[in-house]
Amino acid sequence: MSNLWKTKSIEKLILESQGEGEKRELKKVLTTWSLVALGIGAIIGAGLFSLTGIAAAEHAGPAVMLSFVVAAVACLFSALCYAEFASMIPVAGSAYTYSYATFGEFMAWIIGWDLVLEYSLGAATVGVSWSQYFVKLLHQVGIIVPEALVKSPFEGGFINLPAIFIVCAISMVLIRGIRGSSKFNNILVVLKVTVVFVFIILGWSFINPENHVPFIPENQGEFGHFGLSGIAMGAAVVFFAFIGFDAVSTTAQETINPQKSMPRGIIGALLACTVLYVLFAYVMTGMVRYDEFLNDASPVAKAFSVTGYTSIEFLLVLAIVCGFTSVILVMLLGQSRVFYAMSKDGLLPSFFSDIHPTFKTPWKTSIFFMLFVSLLAGLVPISDLGHMVSMGTLLAFALVSIGIIILRVRRPEVPRRFKTPLVPLIPILGTVISLALMYALPMVSWYRLVIWMAIGLIIYFSYSRKHSRVDQ
Ligand code: ALA
Repeated sequence: MSNLWKTKSIEKLILESQGEGEKRELKKVLTTWSLVALGIGAIIGAGLFSLTGIAAAEHAGPAVMLSFVVAAVACLFSALCYAEFASMIPVAGSAYTYSYATFGEFMAWIIGWDLVLEYSLGAATVGVSWSQYFVKLLHQVGIIVPEALVKSPFEGGFINLPAIFIVCAISMVLIRGIRGSSKFNNILVVLKVTVVFVFIILGWSFINPENHVPFIPENQGEFGHFGLSGIAMGAAVVFFAFIGFDAVSTTAQETINPQKSMPRGIIGALLACTVLYVLFAYVMTGMVRYDEFLNDASPVAKAFSVTGYTSIEFLLVLAIVCGFTSVILVMLLGQSRVFYAMSKDGLLPSFFSDIHPTFKTPWKTSIFFMLFVSLLAGLVPISDLGHMVSMGTLLAFALVSIGIIILRVRRPEVPRRFKTPLVPLIPILGTVISLALMYALPMVSWYRLVIWMAIGLIIYFSYSRKHSRVDQ
């Protein structure tokens, strides 16, 4: 039983990150800028392009801008904690590795298993949204895809073929190498950020100031339905739009100077996206009155229709498709790196940490998740599982925040290139907000979390504990 709480030594982790004695190691090629791009790649996606309208129409009105700020502050508290860990323990695996050094093997397993919800389910969820927009794009050029091939069997279809296609295509890019994946991601990020800018700049002159009044619509007598509580509820909804910045930390072992670049990459990506999100929300709710976005999952198209620039709409949808593509890429990347780290520790079979001799990527893990995620995206009505992605992410945020306090007490002497300010206040706020947002999620996602964790415990006690290398 004692191994359960045995922590991994930080010194050993640092040695591992330098690839001591390893012939087959991950390649170190990522710079601060590629990390910021990876962060933006994972962050801007379905959350911004689909949820902004819903959060405005149902919860916050034009004050959805404030919802974005609240969600960003909540993420910033956790991001600061991630940044300190990443500057101290630059090893692949992110929250999983940090938990191993702080809480011991058992909690590390819990968090590694939990991250599947964030990364794999996140990739599958965004894969399904990708498919919906891609079909729209094909429609605009005259290609009609039969409904049965874009819907899961549970929604009256046969299989979601485009969703499977994108997951497989991205997995191939990832297997080919981190340098190529990062370059591909950079192109997608430039495209999607350009279009967010185009939307903001073109839309600005179509803002009708009357649409921003009242800025905070009066509460309708129900919690979360406008007023201040509406801003809070809106923040819980748009939280999804920020998920992904932590995926940057899973690539620490492939970063040239992780101690310096990691904090900059994580916090830089988060801040850049926050500014873009607030401006985007300002323009969008200025172009069209907030209540017109009710039940509209493509608010961008609706807002843009007032401009009359119909030819640009095609480009907007194209950029949205690119945006989703990079989210899927970084999520799948993060997932394979977490399982790579867990396998190196013996908690999963060595299959998951096998590095390709030429590409230097954990290719078998990528193939495994290509199959797993494409099955999910192709056959499961993933829309109602979106909450599970938030659930998994928030649990990781809470544990990483608590971990910072614990390590400051236990290992104050370990060098930290970046230090979270105002400890313990910031980590405590990070934990409390994460738990509060988890509490706000529907009960059914709690049941699913319990089931997922029960499966994880069975695997841990029947396999992982017996094969753990924590003592070696
Ligand atoms: N933040 C990512 C998105 O909005 C998950 O798609």
